[in-house]
Amino acid sequence: MKKQVWFLSIFLSFLILPTSCQKHACDTGSATKSNFSFCDTSLSYEDRAKDLVSRLTLEEKAQQLVDPSAGISRLGVPAYEWWSEALHGVSNLGPGTRFNKTVPGATSFPAVILSAASFNESLWNKMGQVVSTEARAMYNVDLAGLTFWSPNVNVFRDPRWGRGQETPGEDPLLVSRYAVNYVRGLQEVEDEASAKADRLKVSSCCKHYTAYDIDNWKGIDRFHFDAKVTKQDLEDTYQPPFKKCVEEGHVSSVMCSYNRVNGVPTCADPDLLKGIIRGQWGLDGYIVSDCDSVEVYYDAIHYTATPEDAVALALKAGLNMNCGDFLKKYTANAVNLKKVDVATVDQALVYNYIVLMRLGLFDDPKSLPFANLGPSDVCTKDNQQLSVDAAKQGIVLLENNGALPLSQTIIKKLVVIGPNANATEVMISNYAGIPCRYTSPLQGLRKYISSVKYAPGCSDVKCGNQSLIAAAVKAAISADAVVLVVGLDQSIEAEGLDRENLTLPGFQGKLVKDVAGATKGKVILVIMAAGPTDISFSKNVSNIGGILWVGYPGQAGGDAIAQVIFGDYNPGGRSPFTWYPQSYVDQVPMTDMNMRANISRNFPGRTYRFYNGTSLYEFGHGLSYSTFSMNVESAPSTIMVQSTSISEAHNIFSSGSATQVESVSKGQAVDISSINCEDLTFLLVIGVKNNGPLNGSHVVLVFWEPATSDLVTGAPIKQLIGFERVYVTMGMTEFVTVKVDICQLLSNLDNDGKRKLVIGQHTILIGSSSETQVRHHIDVKFSGSMKAKEFKSE
Ligand SMILES: *[C@@H]1O[C@H](CO)[C@@H](O)[C@H](O)[C@H]1NC(C)=O
Ligand SMILES: *[C@@H]1O[C@H](CO)[C@@H](O)[C@H](O)[C@H]1NC(C)=O
Ligand SMILES: *[C@@H]1O[C@H](CO)[C@@H](O)[C@H](O)[C@H]1NC(C)=O
Ligand SMILES: *[C@@H]1O[C@H](CO)[C@@H](O)[C@H](O)[C@H]1NC(C)=O
Ligand SMILES: *[C@@H]1O[C@H](CO)[C@@H](O)[C@H](O)[C@H]1NC(C)=O
Ligand SMILES: *[C@@H]1O[C@H](CO)[C@@H](O)[C@H](O)[C@H]1NC(C)=O
Ligand SMILES: *[C@@H]1O[C@H](CO)[C@@H](O)[C@H](O)[C@H]1NC(C)=O
Ligand SMILES: *[C@@H]1O[C@H](CO)[C@@H](O)[C@H](O)[C@H]1NC(C)=O
Ligand SMILES: *[C@@H]1O[C@H](CO)[C@@H](O)[C@H](O)[C@H]1NC(C)=O
Ligand SMILES: *[C@@H]1O[C@H](CO)[C@@H](O)[C@H](O)[C@H]1NC(C)=O
Repeated sequence: MKKQVWFLSIFLSFLILPTSCQKHACDTGSATKSNFSFCDTSLSYEDRAKDLVSRLTLEEKAQQLVDPSAGISRLGVPAYEWWSEALHGVSNLGPGTRFNKTVPGATSFPAVILSAASFNESLWNKMGQVVSTEARAMYNVDLAGLTFWSPNVNVFRDPRWGRGQETPGEDPLLVSRYAVNYVRGLQEVEDEASAKADRLKVSSCCKHYTAYDIDNWKGIDRFHFDAKVTKQDLEDTYQPPFKKCVEEGHVSSVMCSYNRVNGVPTCADPDLLKGIIRGQWGLDGYIVSDCDSVEVYYDAIHYTATPEDAVALALKAGLNMNCGDFLKKYTANAVNLKKVDVATVDQALVYNYIVLMRLGLFDDPKSLPFANLGPSDVCTKDNQQLSVDAAKQGIVLLENNGALPLSQTIIKKLVVIGPNANATEVMISNYAGIPCRYTSPLQGLRKYISSVKYAPGCSDVKCGNQSLIAAAVKAAISADAVVLVVGLDQSIEAEGLDRENLTLPGFQGKLVKDVAGATKGKVILVIMAAGPTDISFSKNVSNIGGILWVGYPGQAGGDAIAQVIFGDYNPGGRSPFTWYPQSYVDQVPMTDMNMRANISRNFPGRTYRFYNGTSLYEFGHGLSYSTFSMNVESAPSTIMVQSTSISEAHNIFSSGSATQVESVSKGQAVDISSINCEDLTFLLVIGVKNNGPLNGSHVVLVFWEPATSDLVTGAPIKQLIGFERVYVTMGMTEFVTVKVDICQLLSNLDNDGKRKLVIGQHTILIGSSSETQVRHHIDVKFSGSMKAKEFKSE
């Protein structure tokens, strides 16, 4: 389905991409039509958009509701292709963007799953800025649009998901912070006048809304999937990244997904679209369908009787733009049949045009803030350096028995082995463009050691037979060090393709064991894959000296890998997901959307927040070549919580048993809407000491372990409430301050999706299980009679 639509759109785009000779009505050079109010920059975007829409016939309106929007030549409004992509660099996957000799490539950053592992907010923001600069530069030479349907902010719920590589991992806070920073990097115009005018550098889009994360698993695909989601899971896992993206990222678009949520296709659900995205969160932008999810719910699941009903339902639910052609074909008829009124169509178009106006498409092009950018601003040295930097910051040192870093002076003979050892395209993952250049792992390592032998060991990642293993073993025998680069690629995990198991495919495991068993040199295992793989077999292979996870590390991933292996960069990345054992997927159907464990049906729960079983590596795991220690420098030990109205104190608890406020006992749960949350925040100050032997960055992870309560079911085991990456020079201590909003971060969601604060002892847990953790207890007490809340600091 999706493929057909792509081909169609790509074909159309060649016919209708605006050309530079086509004059826009609002280009001052075209004096004949510049009188239209929609060109009058003294009016508000909304008034201008309304003026434009008021001039269109119904047929013309329908033609503008789809991603190759036709334009209105009689008004001098050119065609516009809405679909471009920029997940981790400007991509040519959408028909709105292409490369040619004028701009042959753009900076290709690592797959998001690896950049996320850096836990570095300023990096994500900077990447967004670089990508939008390159995008604007390409727009200026007619090679790109300005509306980018990126990023993907679905949580990486199940380790098999083929699109996990596109996401920032399994934790809602991590995904949210990534989304906010990357979106702001893409969209924000730094000068004050532009910011005041609500200008957009490029328009970004958070997708796929919501609870979408199955592609194709055992014949169940995203087009037919009905996600059964509890209110509790929806509120504290699936929705938060979208909410933050809109409320804090100020994203200008949200894309609804293919799947249904509790029976209703997301693009046809007025509660999810109009009610939540626009009503509660206040989206200033447009809502777009996935390609072509309106057609999908008509065609694939027969959700409506006619195509006109499908279109009317979507428009009434709050959809504004259709990737595909369904709304172009059926909107006029749906209006004529009185299934939807024209005012709803007009409103959709107004939201769309406001975004184009904020981008400056209806202004004099020469007056735009980015008019000077051009091909020389793409693939600059600095931009390419940032791509290497992103990969280095994300790489996770999973194991090290002292073998790493390798010494350039001691290692004379290096052998590089594995199906991904000379990877190029594999490194740029999916939703990529054409990179500026590649540095494969083999090429990166050759910059350090002059004598490097290469033996693939497998002909591809599927590694279907052992025919190349013997040669690899032979090459390895006399090596001083062997770097084995194994893993996955798009033939195993991809859009439209979920994994069936977590093991390394084919004979890759055997390759590792045979090579490691034969050589006397140090063995470094590098896993190039997005989702977790069960590499527990490696624990039995005693001479594997170090293990690195490198995600899909982008165009120059080989440089990043080599710099980490030879100690020019001290790794500090942390795993953004749980490394489950293979047995996990034998136990858990991918279609089960529950996050919480359920003992009665032997369901172990999902992600570090709810999965209590054994894992190979936990979320947040990651080593360094240095050792760091942390301490709590300052934090409250008691927090007094007050109700907003003292007279209501007796009925703000979930159980009716609390009659006397003074006798509020531990385990009671207060609805946060009934307490005074304003200013109920504290600052947690953490000291981080680098005990050597190298300078390096340390990721401080702050988790919350909830107070126990019988009144709130489904509390997480622990939950990330803050993080920061900090650079610490050897022997020095740096301080990190994390702001904690008590009502939002130390509360549980109940079965109805309402936030409850439990009275009792909460614990702040600093660090992951791979480091010395620090615990700090905070007593949350309730006081109905106190005038002001009171913090007692240690
Ligand atoms: C534009 O406005 C000017 C002044 O109001 C008027 O003289 C001119 O005829 C208008 N041009 C068009 C094309 O309507
Ligand atoms: C690349 O495409 C742009 C936009 O169509 C065009 O202006 C430019 O001449 C093309 N460059 C080359 C070298 O063909
Ligand atoms: C590594 O890959 C590059 C790019 O595909 C290719 O040019 C080169 O020949 C490969 N190296 C070896 C040793 O196969
Ligand atoms: C091993 O696999 C490769 C690639 O699939 C194939 O070309 C080759 O013929 C196979 N060799 C044997 C011995 O099966
Ligand atoms: C694991 O799954 C992959 C596809 O995801 C398949 O190619 C492979 O054969 C499977 N391996 C085992 C041992 O089942
Ligand atoms: C490790 O080796 C032992 C003994 O040979 C074997 O029983 C066990 O299954 C192996 N574990 C893994 C994970 O391969
Ligand atoms: C656990 O699963 C059982 C059986 O499906 C169900 O009846 C029960 O409500 C579930 N418990 C929770 C807490 O979701
Ligand atoms: C996790 O497992 C341990 C040991 O099996 C058990 O004591 C503990 O209660 C479990 N925690 C949760 C939150 O299920
Ligand atoms: C975070 O990323 C920025 C941008 O690449 C970099 O300059 C900075 O050093 C990084 N911070 C840490 C602590 O590694
Ligand atoms: C560590 O950082 C300090 C302070 O910036 C610098 O003087 C020193 O050269 C660095 N050491 C190494 C090994 O890079």
